[in-house]
Amino acid sequence: MLQWEGMAKRRLVVGNWKMNPRSLKEAKRLFGGIARRARSIRGAQIVVCPPVPYVYELIRGYTGTKVRFGVQNISVFEKEGAHTGETSGQMLRSLGIEYVIVGHSERRALGESDEEIGRKVVGACKSGLVPIVCIGENERDAQGRYLAVLENQIRDSLASVSRTQAQRLIIAYEPLWAIGKGANDAITPHELHGMSIFIKKILTKLYGRKTGMAIRILYGGSVEEANIDELQKEESIDGFLVGHASLDPQEFIYIAHAA
Ligand code: PGA
Repeated sequence: MLQWEGMAKRRLVVGNWKMNPRSLKEAKRLFGGIARRARSIRGAQIVVCPPVPYVYELIRGYTGTKVRFGVQNISVFEKEGAHTGETSGQMLRSLGIEYVIVGHSERRALGESDEEIGRKVVGACKSGLVPIVCIGENERDAQGRYLAVLENQIRDSLASVSRTQAQRLIIAYEPLWAIGKGANDAITPHELHGMSIFIKKILTKLYGRKTGMAIRILYGGSVEEANIDELQKEESIDGFLVGHASLDPQEFIYIAHAA
């Protein structure tokens, strides 16, 4: 019988702004709306992941305590040097950023490999960031081959990640068929239960029971106001990675309250 060690922890609600909004002015307005409403949050921990050019300004202007900051990518290179266009974990950490999304499907689609993702996870851990590693199958098939796809993705992405580093890790399960759609296309709580057990089993095989079971698992893919009340019933899930709904302060905070 699996025990959900993660259950007692605070749920994490992470907003992935992707490449939005189009100006710093709009980013400040969006963040202001979230920060104001976040004051009433008691249970969940909110993390916002704006584009890098905005994040420092938002951190500097924020005097509250309820919101933590993350970004959506990190360089594979750990040390500063001749790497044009890259941003290291150390740089991000020095701005007050705590989390980094690694291996999002939209970055994998641009050619990011499992090996690179592994290096980014290790680099994030070394610089004191918490990596949120995205995994998820493209499609489902009746034979269940997608489970093997998922297992390989987890094993390959984490191949270079040690047990000590794994203690910082967060996994975001985001099936591609559910990303950027509506609540009707998202996963059901029942399916989510099966998937979180499956993922925990793989993590336990990789890192042993204690560490494997303690790794937090988020769900992402069309989490909205319309389905969060259902999804949050799944107790083995430690939080949610929210895309389009995180661009609407009211909806994002509704999700955080529900979680
Ligand atoms: P979505 O995006 O909530 O818009 O589906 C989730 C994600 O891509 O992280």
